[in-house]
Amino acid sequence: MDPTIPLVKLTGIHKRFGAVHSLRGVDLDVMPGETFGLLGDNAAGKSTLMKVLTGVYQPDAGTIELDGVERTFPTPASSRNAGIEMIYQDFALSDNLDVRANIFLGREPRRRILGPFLQVVDTKATERETKRVLEMLDIEINPRLKVHRLSGGQRQAVAIGRALAFDARLVIMDEPTANLSVAKVDKLIEVTARLKKLGIAVIIITHRLDEAFAVADRIAVMRQGSVVGRFAAGDVTETQVAHLISHGALPEQDGAQPDGSKRRLFGSTIQPAGDR
Ligand SMILES: Nc1ncnc2c1ncn2[C@@H]1O[C@H](COP(=O)(O)OP(=O)(O)O)[C@@H](O)[C@H]1O
Ligand SMILES: [Mg+2]
Repeated sequence: MDPTIPLVKLTGIHKRFGAVHSLRGVDLDVMPGETFGLLGDNAAGKSTLMKVLTGVYQPDAGTIELDGVERTFPTPASSRNAGIEMIYQDFALSDNLDVRANIFLGREPRRRILGPFLQVVDTKATERETKRVLEMLDIEINPRLKVHRLSGGQRQAVAIGRALAFDARLVIMDEPTANLSVAKVDKLIEVTARLKKLGIAVIIITHRLDEAFAVADRIAVMRQGSVVGRFAAGDVTETQVAHLISHGALPEQDGAQPDGSKRRLFGSTIQPAGDR
């Protein structure tokens, strides 16, 4: 794997729903192992963009590259098989199944009994693997507990554990902290840091700027279906980004150029949208 080639590169992505032009030529790249914050107001197009990347929607135009190779994801399974795992807001877990079953959901390791034709779920392997991924996340949950008995934070851990069990290279979290208490948000930040240590890239969508700034290496801001700014997290302040989210430009006093031309800000180069 070449660390200078983006893990994922989206170029010129358009998506329309009837008269609504939700994505208007989006360019975005995420490097291997990078934690990337995708920010923007409601209806900016963040979730739609991630659904294009995860095969839920097909783009009307534009390309998706993985490791520098153009790919299409006609189904969510095809994106998942390529190592991209989406953690949905509701975590998409089955309440009446236990933690093990949820981590594997239809992909359980099987073993043969009585010759080549009869296979059963290998419960020992499933349990071992469940323990392994939860340990990787430093989370203690009994693998045999039914999911309806878990807290919000634990449910999220199970969803992330599922990604680890299947060797995800990119985990996408769409508004992961919406239903979590402050302590759970801290845990999520810890888990995100752990994914980074494991070399797994993360795209985190949030409207909480403090969270984005706590975890992200880079951030991009979407507005009305376009990326209007992308930065190394250390190169901008929360205040500047908040202004960009609501007005589509950096605050005037920082000298942001209405034409979006490149300029220096706090000693760092700000790249306007469409520049890379
Ligand atoms: N399935 C759909 N049908 C029609 N319009 C949609 C659909 N999905 C998203 N949209 C529209 O696309 C725009 C972007 O939505 P979305 O991607 O959910 O934004 P965000 O996640 O940034 O809040 C919104 O105007 C939304 O109403
Ligand atoms: Mg959304």
